[in-house]
Amino acid sequence: MNRNLYIETFGCQMNERDSEIMAQLLGEDYYLETSSPEEADCIVVNTCSIRGKAAQKAYSLLGGYRTLKERNPDLVIAVTGCVAQQDGAGLLARMPHLDLVVGPQNIYRLPELVRAARDRAARTTAVELSPTFAIPAFLPKMEGNRQSSPKRFVTIMQGCNNFCTYCVVPHTRGREISRRPEDIIDEVRHLADHGVREITLLGQNVNSYGLDQPAGNRTTFPDLLRLVAQEAGISRIRFTTSHPKDLSPELMVCLGQINKLCPHFHLPVQSGSDRILARMNRKYTRAAYLEKVAALRQACPEIAITTDIIVGFPGESEGDFEQTMELLELVRYDSAFSFKYSDRPKAAAADFPDKVAEEVKSARLARLQARQEEISQEIIRELVGKTVEVMVEGKSKAAGDQWSGRTPENRIVNFSCDRQLHPGQLLRVILEEACRHSLRGRLVS
Ligand code: 5AD
Ligand code: SF4
Repeated sequence: MNRNLYIETFGCQMNERDSEIMAQLLGEDYYLETSSPEEADCIVVNTCSIRGKAAQKAYSLLGGYRTLKERNPDLVIAVTGCVAQQDGAGLLARMPHLDLVVGPQNIYRLPELVRAARDRAARTTAVELSPTFAIPAFLPKMEGNRQSSPKRFVTIMQGCNNFCTYCVVPHTRGREISRRPEDIIDEVRHLADHGVREITLLGQNVNSYGLDQPAGNRTTFPDLLRLVAQEAGISRIRFTTSHPKDLSPELMVCLGQINKLCPHFHLPVQSGSDRILARMNRKYTRAAYLEKVAALRQACPEIAITTDIIVGFPGESEGDFEQTMELLELVRYDSAFSFKYSDRPKAAAADFPDKVAEEVKSARLARLQARQEEISQEIIRELVGKTVEVMVEGKSKAAGDQWSGRTPENRIVNFSCDRQLHPGQLLRVILEEACRHSLRGRLVS
């Protein structure tokens, strides 16, 4: 008998990948995904806790499911992800209509937990976080897939050891644990055999991949990149996220040497002020960061660099913020994700003095985003007239015969073509026009 499963995912790519894994595991128990929570026999809310707003969204969604549970007492509702890890049993106490609270390291137990919830109405919290946890080998099921995309995420490690003072992740995902390289390669090969052409390797801090393994018998991140690049079916490799302090010369060498490695680097800076960087426990200075940016550009001149920035960290003065604004001019990021600082449970900065007023944070964020928007526009306008390689992703959302794909730098390109194209195909496109966050072009015949 088939049952309906509804999954809602918040947060990062790691969470998206975890949701796929949960869908597949529950699929083995005859749960098929539905797009309507009203029809579901099981609801999974995979939550994010990175900022106050993300966690708030999860709480309000969960609160709304109370009426569904009242209408259908057999409905199983599971909370997974970082809010689950952070709040644990507190969530069950606070919301009596929830059945399961499952942390990121425990998602492999979900089928067993859901079965128990269904059969015995057992309400359970599974939030153990072990530093010696071995991530199970797991091959994604490709038939009846969630998405028929030529791009997939492959998690290479979990957790984080850095303890930036604003960040909840070390508390919700635990210490760094690397997957076995052979498991990663098996997964990549399996994906390639099923038509996947682009892989994004995921970790909170990919540069420290393998460092949790004994020295001497260790596959480092550059080693892993070379192994993945040997997989013939894969034409593009990306990765995220890198901590600037760990961006090594060996990794820079890879950028110049591995053709499949895309010239795009996401290098979160967080602030342009040394004083704030120190309070954030980032372990690099503005000058050291700028040196890494220069070295990246030297290794790979066409590289697109993107970043994350927090405004209004406790103690951030006008002067500190000006230094962040100035950094935008010095680096000229392709794009930047920027956020107002928010206190997170257990993160050290929650107890720091000199909190910045909400209006000040909002004003700084608006100023920063407006300037970055201009820079991003200037950068893509300069590309008009160039010919680029585009990997086809599918029909563009715009009407007509428009197709959509991405350049190696991860820029979106829309172009017309009256032929049928297939996802994963590589084409040459001449860029003709810069739009707001994308480019329009014409196929080179
Ligand atoms: N407040 C605001 N932004 C945060 N980030 C992480 N923690 C916080 C916080 N407490 C941002 C950082 C990080 C991105 C994923 O989210 O910029 O790189
Ligand atoms: Fe959110 Fe971070 Fe957890 Fe991802 S790891 S879900 S971004 S809190």
